[in-house]
Formats: sequence, structure tokens, C-alpha cells
Amino acid sequence: MASLAICPGSFDPVTVGHLDIIRRTAKMFDRVIVLVLMNSKKSGGMFTPSERVDFIKRSTSHIPNVEVEFHDGLLAEYAVKKGAVAIVKGLRVLSDYEDEFKQALTNKKLASDIETIFMVTDTEYMFLSSSLVKEVGSFGGDISDFVPSAIKQDIIDRIRELRER
Ligand code: PNS
Repeated sequence: MASLAICPGSFDPVTVGHLDIIRRTAKMFDRVIVLVLMNSKKSGGMFTPSERVDFIKRSTSHIPNVEVEFHDGLLAEYAVKKGAVAIVKGLRVLSDYEDEFKQALTNKKLASDIETIFMVTDTEYMFLSSSLVKEVGSFGGDISDFVPSAIKQDIIDRIRELRER
């Protein structure tokens, strides 16, 4: 049976660091679903779920075994329904670890057959996060090295729209 991995996240918006993890996961599994989910600790957000999905689709269109979905519910529930064998998450700095570890244990409790795999980030992306992209962009900084080129202008446009409101 074809192996399926899920790369979950809030992706508000997807960064080149996320893309690196997705690309490396796609080499290890037959299929990868990049799953946009809501993180209850992060309220609001700059982009809607469908915009986030669209950004990831445009940024991964060159990787044939990657699909992109949104799920308004539990990650574990979705992973079981789809028959996934693994949840793959990128780990950057040590401070990521505590929360990621709790999430992995919760998901294991909810879906004992699904393994969480932590993939170590490339050193180039250790500092990078969606919040950092929004912060640098909001102050007019150059985000070219932080986000896929296909979506850079959409981010700049949204920041401008929000500023003009
Ligand atoms: O990119 P993020 O914000 O670190 O991703 C966190 C995310 C969205 C994967 C996590 O909050 C999540 O799994 N949300 C869906 C709800 C859920 O399954 N919660 C239980 C596991 S903590």
C-alpha cells in the first residue's frame, strides 16, 4: 500500500522553511498531504484557510506527490480517516520542542498507530517562522528570502491592505 504522510501546520503563510520540510518529506513517502489546520493558540491570522491552501498549492505545484487540504478539526482524526502512517513536523530551535512534544503525545493518544516524525530544519531556516515574515513585511522589510516567490506579492498586498484600512 502507498505510504501517506501528513505535514500539518497553520501556514499563515507558508515559508521557504516549511517548503523545505515538505520537499524532504515528499522524498520519503509515496504521498504527502500538507494539511492546513487551526491552531487554537494563534487567533485571527492574516490569511483565510482557503488562501493558505492556495498559497501552498502554488508553491508545491512542482512536487507531483504533494496534495494540499484544509481540515477544521483534529489532526489525528483526519490522519486516521486518510490512512496516514506518519505526521511529519519540522523542528527548529529547542524552544519548539516542548510544545511539539505535547502535541505529538496528544496525537499518539488519539491515534496510536500514527507516528510523529520530527525533521530537523536546515540551518538556513532555523530562525524562520510565519510570524517573522508578517513582522518583517509589516515594517516594509524584504521578505524575498523568507517566502516562496510565487506568493510574495500576495503577502505584500495583504499587508498594504491591512495598513490602509
Ligand atoms: O504551524 P503550527 O501553528 O505550529 O501548527 C500547529 C497545528 C495547527 C498542527 C496544531 O495546532 C493542530 O494540530 N491543530 C488542530 C487541532 C488538533 O488536532 N489539536 C490536538 C493536537 S495539539
